[in-house]
Amino acid sequence: MNNAISKIHILPDELINKIAAGEVVERPAAVVKELVENSIDAGATEITVIVKEGGRALIQVVDNGSGMNRAEAILAFQRHATSKIAAAEDLETIRTLGFRGEALASIASVSRVEMRTMEAGATEATWIKMEGTMPPEVSIGSGTPGTSLAIKNLFFNTPGRRKFLKAAATEYRQILAVIYRFAIAFPQVQFTFVHEDEIIFDMPVAASLTERVVMLFGSRLREALIEIHDKSPAVEISGVVGKQSTIRQARGEQYLFLNQRFIMDKSLNHAVIAAYGEILAHGGFPFYAVFLQVDPARVDVNVHPTKMEVKFADDRLIYAILRNAVKRALSSAAVVPIETTLGHAIPEMNWPLAPEIPSTENDAPSLPSTPAPADFRVQHPGRQLGFNLTAPQPALASAAISSTTQVAETSDFGQNDLKIWQIHNRYILSPTKAGLVIIDQHVAHERILYEQALEMFEKLNPAPQQLLFPILVELSVEDFEMLTEFLPFLERLGFIIKYFGKQTMMIEAVPSGSRYANNMQDGKILLEIIDDFRRGKREKLEIRDNVARSYACHTAVRSGDRLTPVTMQALINQLFTAKSPYFCPHGRPVMIQIPLEELDKRFGRI
Ligand SMILES: Nc1ncnc2c1ncn2[C@@H]1O[C@H](COP(=O)(O)OP(=O)(O)OP(=O)(O)O)[C@@H](O)[C@H]1O
Ligand SMILES: [Mg+2]
Repeated sequence: MNNAISKIHILPDELINKIAAGEVVERPAAVVKELVENSIDAGATEITVIVKEGGRALIQVVDNGSGMNRAEAILAFQRHATSKIAAAEDLETIRTLGFRGEALASIASVSRVEMRTMEAGATEATWIKMEGTMPPEVSIGSGTPGTSLAIKNLFFNTPGRRKFLKAAATEYRQILAVIYRFAIAFPQVQFTFVHEDEIIFDMPVAASLTERVVMLFGSRLREALIEIHDKSPAVEISGVVGKQSTIRQARGEQYLFLNQRFIMDKSLNHAVIAAYGEILAHGGFPFYAVFLQVDPARVDVNVHPTKMEVKFADDRLIYAILRNAVKRALSSAAVVPIETTLGHAIPEMNWPLAPEIPSTENDAPSLPSTPAPADFRVQHPGRQLGFNLTAPQPALASAAISSTTQVAETSDFGQNDLKIWQIHNRYILSPTKAGLVIIDQHVAHERILYEQALEMFEKLNPAPQQLLFPILVELSVEDFEMLTEFLPFLERLGFIIKYFGKQTMMIEAVPSGSRYANNMQDGKILLEIIDDFRRGKREKLEIRDNVARSYACHTAVRSGDRLTPVTMQALINQLFTAKSPYFCPHGRPVMIQIPLEELDKRFGRI
């Protein structure tokens, strides 16, 4: 067998690098992450990221860090070349973001690289050019202290991977998310981000984490953050957690860092969320930026190619410490009620006393407690429902539907005249020719408004209602860009929202007669609309459908709103002119019909 050709052989370095690149740099945002990490490790205080076509055409990171001399600059692109560790023990004490000496080798194997680098005090810079293969082309040129690395045509020599890149807008958003994480983790560093020759943001050095957060997310957060500090032998915790007002319906503004490195850790994120307890009983995600410092010897950051997932030696302990630290911070700011009072906060149920129910089975037949059989829960009553209603007056039919807790029932119609009843401030009951109909007031109104919104998109004659005081809303870059995607649709609904400087919008008017008029004060509703849109987008809804659903959901009367008979009448009238009155845009039934026959059957009449 000695002279047989071996089937096993060592792969050439170039191929090894390309394979490694598949793990380290799966997309442009990963390249940005690696380059910015290097700049931070080099002690930079000013970092500029320049991107074109979502990173496909160009990713350039310019820093004012330590720079490299000529020999280092050439070595930097070799696999396993690093200045950050030298021996195995060093892995236990890593304080830098990088340590494997893999990033530049991987990136250079799948792109065209141009680097200029110069150490402080040097008179000339080293220029390096590479096109996927070693050795690089090296020359001497002018420069300023620091390093500029330009990555062009990412994946030019791995067409398979290039094909899998998402649309430029998607890659851009990922890059933006990466830069946001760095900007939060390093407030003392000035960050500038340029995309397609436009400055997306230019963030000066911030005096504190809170200052930086406000720069990134808007001043709505200034008063809404609680600082958190906790020191124990296992972990040191610092950062800020948001009060109720920061809760949003979509995930995205939750930041967790381990030794200054952004991490995704389900369990630790859960620890923070769990600390909010009852406050998040109905879901939602508060803002937080929490930093954990753990002895590098007690954590393994090398379990994932992008170091985004980590392994702790003391994970349970850290979970508990983190949860308690957040909880304490929240209760010190009176966000979370202290446990002992919690029990009293829940009002006692105040049911009318039920008649004594016999305890043995053989006694009187017990009341049926099973839910009604499905067959009569949702029947499609059709437009011939035949409500026993007096003919609606024209004014009634078009009356704006609004919840009216303050308005006394001054209507000429008593409840009995209209034969409409509201129960539990949630359902509307009315007899029909064939039996009884029960309407879910919120869902019904949602249906009506949804169809109205779709119509308004076509008609282009919105009815804006000017706000007495226009509202300024500062947004994160991501929210700002999301909003611009569907702003024209909001305008057709009657909103007037204008650009007011970078990342700031001014709401001047809202759809006339809508709930927005009363609820707009802090602009939070705009964030809710954006979150809804983001969710709808994930479900791949069309823009118009997405905006119409969100509008309908936010402006509809709520379950819990007391409605006057006049309002209920108007709601029913409008419902039955709707194209599809039986289901809400999300597919929930709008009404249930119970045929008289069914009632007769249940009462043993037939
Ligand atoms: N912007 C920079 N300024 C100064 N030196 C740099 C810069 N970028 C890279 N280097 C040098 O090049 C070396 C190789 O960088 P590379 O990112 O490939 O590896 P690393 O950062 O050491 O480890 P990792 O692969 O974990 O990122 C670094 O160790 C550092 O010495
Ligand atoms: Mg690195």
